[in-house]
Amino acid sequence: MDSRSAFPMKEKIVLSGIHKSFGSKVILSGLDFSVNEGEILCVIGKSGTGKSVTLKLLVGILAPERGEIFVDGMSYTGASAPQRAAIESKYGILFQGAALFDSMNIYDNVAFGLRRKAASEDEIARAVPELLELVGLRGIEKKIPSELSGGMQKRVGLARAIALQPEIMLYDEPTTGVDPITGGAVDRLIMKMRSVYKITSVVVTHDIKSACRIADRVIMIYEGRVIFTGDPDALMRSSDPIVRQFVEGKADGPIKVI
Ligand SMILES: Nc1ncnc2c1ncn2[C@@H]1O[C@H](COP(=O)(O)OP(=O)(O)OP(=O)(O)O)[C@@H](O)[C@H]1O
Ligand SMILES: [Mg+2]
Repeated sequence: MDSRSAFPMKEKIVLSGIHKSFGSKVILSGLDFSVNEGEILCVIGKSGTGKSVTLKLLVGILAPERGEIFVDGMSYTGASAPQRAAIESKYGILFQGAALFDSMNIYDNVAFGLRRKAASEDEIARAVPELLELVGLRGIEKKIPSELSGGMQKRVGLARAIALQPEIMLYDEPTTGVDPITGGAVDRLIMKMRSVYKITSVVVTHDIKSACRIADRVIMIYEGRVIFTGDPDALMRSSDPIVRQFVEGKADGPIKVI
């Protein structure tokens, strides 16, 4: 059975006509895409095309110069402070690199968001081991981040993000810098988050294999816009020379390689 068709096509996130520059450097120039509720959307594209910037726009760390972002039909751009807070609370994010707090042990790292939300220490004491169990890292509460491998740190980052029960998870390069086996485990966790919690997921990745394994749909960003949208089969079959060059990792082609 193809579980991919089992998800209703309600749009959870819509980005419309997004423009974003830094000084004279145009990064996004008319970016349009949407993410359906409960789907895993993978975002691919060359380094520096604005994938991480797109995630930062989604969570409101950056603001676009033009264009609108809607979450559950609510416009982010014109939102009041409380509305923005409500939208922001829907998101969990796993940043590029795990971004753990080096000086805190794993327990306190995972508890961080819960404490900010004023959860009781009893609740936290129950939640942290469960969250670590969920990401396959039971019993590491007392360790500090530098004692863990990169893959383990990513999984702790995921436990920390999931603690706040987000409706939407954003993953920035979750499998970069980990071996293929650990990468496969991270992929399975992303799929588990979706199947257990029905989380809508946006996964930025360079890893085409991983994208094909987990994505319902893939978009490719090129020169500030989306130049491909489709499922993994369509991605692999695409005859667009830009898509082909990226998928095959060739130096020759329309994409300039620095
Ligand atoms: N806060 C910022 N100030 C100035 N320039 C920025 C800022 N954030 C990103 N940029 C620039 O915007 C461009 C896109 O950056 P972004 O981090 O989104 O790329 P990316 O697609 O995620 O690349 P990678 O695959 O290497 O992670 C880059 O040229 C980057 O230098
Ligand atoms: Mg990036």
